Amino acid sequence: MPYRLSACQRPGLASLCGHACRVAAGVFPDFSVAKDRARYVGLPEADDRDHYVDRESFARYTNVCSPVHDDFKSLQSLPQEDQLMTADFSLSGGVALVTGAGSGIGRAIALGLAGAGAHVGCVDRVPGNVEATAAEILAAGSRAVPVAADVTDPAALSAAVAQIESALGPLTLGVNAAGIASAAPAEIMPGEQWRQVIDVDLTGVFLSCQAEGRAMIRNGGGSIVNIASMSATIANRGLHQAHYNSAKAGVVHLGRSLAWEWAAYGVRVNSISPGYTYTPMTQRPEQRDAMEGYAKDTPLGRNAQPEDMVGPVVFLLSRAASFVTGVDLLVDGGHVIW
Ligand SMILES: NC(=O)c1ccc[n+]([C@@H]2O[C@H](COP(=O)([O-])OP(=O)(O)OC[C@H]3O[C@@H](n4cnc5c(N)ncnc54)[C@H](O)[C@@H]3O)[C@@H](O)[C@H]2O)c1
Repeated sequence: MPYRLSACQRPGLASLCGHACRVAAGVFPDFSVAKDRARYVGLPEADDRDHYVDRESFARYTNVCSPVHDDFKSLQSLPQEDQLMTADFSLSGGVALVTGAGSGIGRAIALGLAGAGAHVGCVDRVPGNVEATAAEILAAGSRAVPVAADVTDPAALSAAVAQIESALGPLTLGVNAAGIASAAPAEIMPGEQWRQVIDVDLTGVFLSCQAEGRAMIRNGGGSIVNIASMSATIANRGLHQAHYNSAKAGVVHLGRSLAWEWAAYGVRVNSISPGYTYTPMTQRPEQRDAMEGYAKDTPLGRNAQPEDMVGPVVFLLSRAASFVTGVDLLVDGGHVIW
């Protein structure tokens, strides 16, 4: 039974990519929606001819569109059951943009993605730190490019995507970890302090997703993981941070919103919510001395190291999570269940 491809960009199998294959798969059953979307993201305007292709070629060509291209060669020496699992979790051939890659959780994730096979664009507002992360990845034999950019600046983020794509290839993976924190009782918090945290921790994540999402839509799909916080779920005892908690709750719901909007393009959007993690952020005076107490309040009996965030992020980015979108994964040692 041949597949009917409404709204092909041009005749022939070459058109079986990105937008067109999703039309064929029935994600855009309504041709006019498909056409509008194609125009919006800058694809060549769809024509209204129907094209036909057999089931086998359709499957083959839609596989080519998969955001993660697996390299099975290095896996061939493993037992068959291990090969199957490892391939699903591999990011081999993927190109990633990681914000906040100069420190803490973002840095650990940038290194972890490279370890899982991705090429990594390391983005941070501190040039020296982001260069150091990229240098570590290069020294380990993977590919990386450092980019200094502020996540509150949409033009800088577009330029970062362009720079990463020209150095490493089409963007398919995004992790948004850039963030700041501060504290002030709500009744006296200056408006400027509220706005600064919302600008970086919520608007900065939206702008990062927007720059990454535009590229992924163009590239035929991708996967984004935002770094929220368990502060999206709880109001941390003893910490006066209404701005931070609100921003993180916003990041979780932003993920759900983008997940449905971009599902049609093959772009998945999820978040993880770390618990207390040893990084420069938790060395602030209001947190540093409380860390030991937090560990006692955590069922697993300790706080996190930045590396604890790598596995959950790799999973959500990988093909192993191909049916997971719009979720927030708490990575908190069980802190919120007490
Ligand atoms: N450490 C924790 O306990 C914890 C817990 C939950 C969530 N988080 C979240 O994890 C993420 C990473 O935090 P971390 O603990 O690694 O902190 P960190 O301070 O070590 O790293 C944050 C990084 O973000 C960068 N950054 C800040 N503002 C930026 C901007 N405007 N543009 C570009 N880069 C910017 C900083 O330069 C820094 O490199 C943050 O979103 C944070 O809210 C941290």
